Amino acid sequence: MVTAACLAKLGHDVQCFDSDPEVIELLKVGKVRFHEPGLADLVSQMVTEGRLQTAESIEEAVGSSELSFICVSTPPKANGAADLSYIEAATRAIAQSMDGYHIIVEKSTVPAKTGERVRETLRMHAKPSVEFDVVSFPEFSREGHAIDDFLHPDRLVLGVESERAEQAMRTLVQGIDAPIVVTDMASAELIKHASNCFLALKISYANALANVCETIGANVEEVAEGMGLDNRIGRDFLNAGVGYGGSCFPKDMAAFIAMADELGYDFKLLKAAREVNDERPRRLIEKLRQALWVLSGKTVAVLGLAFKPDTDDVREAPALALIELLLEEGASVRAYDPVATSTAQKLLGERVVYCEDSYQAASGADALVVVTEWDEFRHLDLDRIKGLLAVPVIIDGRNIFDRTTLTEAGFIYHGMGK
Ligand code: UGA
Repeated sequence: MVTAACLAKLGHDVQCFDSDPEVIELLKVGKVRFHEPGLADLVSQMVTEGRLQTAESIEEAVGSSELSFICVSTPPKANGAADLSYIEAATRAIAQSMDGYHIIVEKSTVPAKTGERVRETLRMHAKPSVEFDVVSFPEFSREGHAIDDFLHPDRLVLGVESERAEQAMRTLVQGIDAPIVVTDMASAELIKHASNCFLALKISYANALANVCETIGANVEEVAEGMGLDNRIGRDFLNAGVGYGGSCFPKDMAAFIAMADELGYDFKLLKAAREVNDERPRRLIEKLRQALWVLSGKTVAVLGLAFKPDTDDVREAPALALIELLLEEGASVRAYDPVATSTAQKLLGERVVYCEDSYQAASGADALVVVTEWDEFRHLDLDRIKGLLAVPVIIDGRNIFDRTTLTEAGFIYHGMGK
């Protein structure tokens, strides 16, 4: 949706097709079914202006276009490797619909060498006279900032095999002011996985440091500040907390590790980073135990269900892992999220009490836990929260509060690594 809407915003005519008819029906009236800041407005504007249209079939979409973007999901298989069956199916359908020269753009996140398979599959199913090129154009947008990241990226990566395709892609992205890195297809595919895994590694490094800080009485935020001012390191993605989640880092780590395994390389570094991440929700439980001793029979207010702020996405959200652990311990959970309650409810069911706001969640709870750093949590009326909690315990899973302020206000406060 973001790719389609942003390409339309750049002035292109975009035809969208999805195998889920509901997506298309909503799009016809300019609507999207998930929360991404600014996207609903942009989609509705582009639909009204007629640049974002829907197609009834892949044939129709491909037949009226010069380039086709494959944006299907690549979910993890049981062994962590990416399931490429949707890519294969989309490729076949595109191949059968191509009439003249066509460029097929791989936008989904895929393991290196997928583009090669896409090319072979196209050759196998396209009319023999049809010429085409395959391009890898990896996505670096973050959820919650997707439109801005798409239109103002740090860089664009183009994995191309021909001058003709490179020129077409350069024309397509005109209007985006960013350095363009042109590589072969496999390198472009690798840049995507390597970047996400490096960022995940960086977060796990901060979380491992947080553990060390706790044992020696240092403050991980100050350590990150001091490290981050070194341009070679940088401050971003050094925030310790309950760990990374979402539909990207956990899946891409698993896929990259699986791909390396298949190639005979044991990527121990990434495996260790994943282990550090998996331990984070349990680490938070230990802090709760430190404060409350026994968790069975206690009530815990959980603030934040989305895997990060500004999204309703709860895929691999640390909050879900944490809630499962709390329920296993025999605790009751009162949860609140500004937008992700209904997506979380689909996975957690009625085992949790869903609240209208943070204050309702805190009401009568034995502790309050912050799992997602939504801006509104930073501005809570802490006196009111203190009055509502049965015991004034706050476990700050994202380090959004200042320890001194909270302890002076009478809270028993635990952060992560400080
Ligand atoms: C990530 C990448 O940042 C994007 O560049 C990429 O395009 C995207 O995956 C993708 O592959 O599609 P996203 O998953 O939307 O984007 O979110 P991030 O902002 O990267 O955050 C991921 C997780 O890391 C969140 O759970 C966040 O809370 C956590 N995080 C992030 C930390 O725990 N500490 C940090 O310092 C930063």
